[in-house]
Amino acid sequence: MTTISPAIQDYIDNRFSIGLEPYIESLTENGLNSSAERILDVGSGPGQWSFAASQVAPEAEVIGFDINQEEISFARQYQQEQKYSHVRFEIGGYLDLTNHIEPESCDVIMCNGVLMYLDRDRAFEIFSSLLKPGGQVFFYHNHQAGYYLHQCFESLAPPSPRKIYAYGFIPLLVHWPRSLFFGVTDGDGPLSIKKLQDTGKKHGLELHEIPTKPMLTYKKSFAGIPYIFSLAGYKKEK
Ligand SMILES: C[S@@+](CC[C@H](N)C(=O)[O-])C[C@H]1O[C@@H](n2cnc3c(N)ncnc32)[C@H](O)[C@@H]1O
Repeated sequence: MTTISPAIQDYIDNRFSIGLEPYIESLTENGLNSSAERILDVGSGPGQWSFAASQVAPEAEVIGFDINQEEISFARQYQQEQKYSHVRFEIGGYLDLTNHIEPESCDVIMCNGVLMYLDRDRAFEIFSSLLKPGGQVFFYHNHQAGYYLHQCFESLAPPSPRKIYAYGFIPLLVHWPRSLFFGVTDGDGPLSIKKLQDTGKKHGLELHEIPTKPMLTYKKSFAGIPYIFSLAGYKKEK
């Protein structure tokens, strides 16, 4: 079994700290197709959205897909312990999705808290090719400028003993000034609703904003600057 590092465990504990109910509620309220046959969760991390989707659409085959081996290892263990017989997890980068999933085979694609790290044009092209016409997409928790500003402010305080334990002192010494001055980590930067909608349109995806419930450490705004937004939509029929 893959050993899970304290930093990843810290992240997983945070994601599951609120239980699955808020994820289930939000997917239900935003109309996830409860008779979906296949749901793909790209960048699933430890899988909380995959498990929640499986509860909303109990007949669906749910596939969580992530590049991080440790998170997938946790997700697979949780899946077995909690007996989610319709959920499975695969390891891989999103550019590799078309080698794992048949074209036009998904009723729903979720990609939550991940778009910041991907080439959106390429990702939407791939998602569109994997979706059935009329299929749904959910993009929860996309970071805006307020998120990064908050990161900068948080970095002004010295790291807590819990953070030092989770990340290690030397990596924190690098991470701390970097987030202090830039508020960002590798390949990560603010997204805009309009830009995502335009990129979606290019690939036949109609996107609209959906409410982001207060969840985890996410807020509506920081110092009056929007923090995070969520989008949902569908692939246009030809
Ligand atoms: C902020 S986490 C979000 C995880 C989960 N969806 C959630 O909402 O908690 C971002 C995830 O994207 C994954 N990721 C980053 N780049 C990726 C890529 N190129 N292909 C697939 N997954 C990727 C990371 O491994 C990580 O699990």
